[in-house]
Amino acid sequence: MSGDLRVPGDKSVSHRVTLLPLLTDAPCRAAGWLDSADTRASLAAVRALGARADLDGDVLTVDPCPAPGAMLRTGDRPLDIDCGNSGTTARLLMGLLAGWLPPGGPGVVLDGDASLRGRPMARIAAPLVGMGARISWLGPPDRLPVRVEGASLQACDYDLPVASAQLKSALLLAGLRASGRSTVRGGGDSRDHTERLLRTMGVAVTVGPGDVLSVAGGAPVSAFDVKVPGDLSTAAFLLVAAVLVPGSRVTVRGVGLGPGRTGLLAVLGRAGAEVVVTAEAADDPTREPLGDITVARGALRPFDVGADEVPALVDELPALAVLAAICPGVSTVAGARELRHKESDRIALMARGLADLGADVTERPDGWVINGGRPLAGGRKGRPRVLATAGDHRVAMALALASLIADGETALDDNECVAVSFPHFFATLDGLAVR
Ligand code: S3P
Repeated sequence: MSGDLRVPGDKSVSHRVTLLPLLTDAPCRAAGWLDSADTRASLAAVRALGARADLDGDVLTVDPCPAPGAMLRTGDRPLDIDCGNSGTTARLLMGLLAGWLPPGGPGVVLDGDASLRGRPMARIAAPLVGMGARISWLGPPDRLPVRVEGASLQACDYDLPVASAQLKSALLLAGLRASGRSTVRGGGDSRDHTERLLRTMGVAVTVGPGDVLSVAGGAPVSAFDVKVPGDLSTAAFLLVAAVLVPGSRVTVRGVGLGPGRTGLLAVLGRAGAEVVVTAEAADDPTREPLGDITVARGALRPFDVGADEVPALVDELPALAVLAAICPGVSTVAGARELRHKESDRIALMARGLADLGADVTERPDGWVINGGRPLAGGRKGRPRVLATAGDHRVAMALALASLIADGETALDDNECVAVSFPHFFATLDGLAVR
C-alpha cells in the first residue's frame, strides 16, 4: 500500500469555524472546511439560529446577523436543533447559547440521534448552571434532549473533572458572556482549537501556571479568515494502515499538528514504525500548526499507552487497538475510560470486533490488554464475518483496517456511518491498497 495524499479538513476545527461566528457581528470565512454529516449538523444549527452560512466548494462563510436566537420571541415554541451524531455540536452550543440567547425568550431544544442521546451531558450542564445558566433536561437527567434558555451568567472558576476539550470549550464560550473573568483548570492536555480560534478573533485567552485558562466576560470578538488543516484523526486510519500492511509507505500532507492531537505519532514510533514529520514553519501562533507525515512499517513491537497520553490520541485508540493486535507481544491501553462515552462504547466494540476476528483481547474498565501476533481470520468465501460497529464512524474505520489484514471475508454491519467524519474513507483506502 502506498500513496501521497491529502485528507479532508479537521472535524474539530470545522465545527468551531461554523459555530464561533455566532459570537461576532461580521462575516467569517474558513477554507478547507470538512463537509461531513457531523459538521453539517453544526451548519444546520447556525442557520436555524438565524445566521447566513454559504458553502462554496470547501470555503465556508458564516454571517452571524442577527445574534444567535435574536429572532426568538417570548411565547414562541423553543427552537429545535438536531445535533445528529455530533457531541461537539451539542456541547459547544450548550455553552455558547447559555449566555447568548435573549433572556425571557423560549430558548432552544438541543437533541440528537440515539447514540448522542446516550452520551453524558451533565458534565457540561452542571458547571454552566453554576454560572447561572438556565438548562433543563426534557427527558432523563444527564441526557439530551435539553432546553437552554437565555440567562445572565456569572464567571466560573472550575476544575475540569475530565480533560475534555468539549467541556473546556463550552465553559470558555459561556465565560465570554459572563460578568467577570472565568477560569478553567485541567484542560491543558486536550486539543486547543477553541482557544486558538478565539485568539484569532481577538479574544485574550490567557494561560496561567498550573494549566489555567481564563477569559474576560464581555471581551469584544472579531471575525476571522482561516484555513482548516487536514484532520490527523482521519489521516490516522491511513497511517495505521501503512503500518499494518507489509511493504507500505504513506504520506499525508497538510495535516494539523496542534498540541493535544499528535499522540498517535509517538505511539507509532514506539510500535516500531518509521515516522517522519515535516512541520511547516509557523509564522503566526494563532494559526493551526500543520505539516506532512510519512509512515512506513518497521519491525513491530508491543506498546503501552497510559492515562497521561490519552487526551492527545483519544480518537485514534480504536485504530491503535488494531495495531496492537498484530504487534507480537502484550500491548496495553489504560486510563481511557472516556472511550466508553464516545459515539459508542469503543472499548467494548473494539474488543468484540477484534475477538470476532480471532485476536486475544481482554477488556478492562479503562482500556484493553491485547496479546498481539495471532493471525486474524474472517469468514469463508461467500459467508463473510460481519463485524458490529454500532454505527460509530471510528469503530467502523478501525475494523475496516483489521479486515485488510484478516484472512477470509469480512463485512461491517454499517458502512455508511463513516460519513460522520470521512465520507470517502473506503474509496481512499482502496486507492492506497491497489498501489
Ligand atoms: C472533540 C474533543 C474530543 C474528541 C471528539 C472531538 C472536540 O472529545 O474525542 O471527537 O472537537 O472538541 P472530548 O473533548 O470529550 O474528550
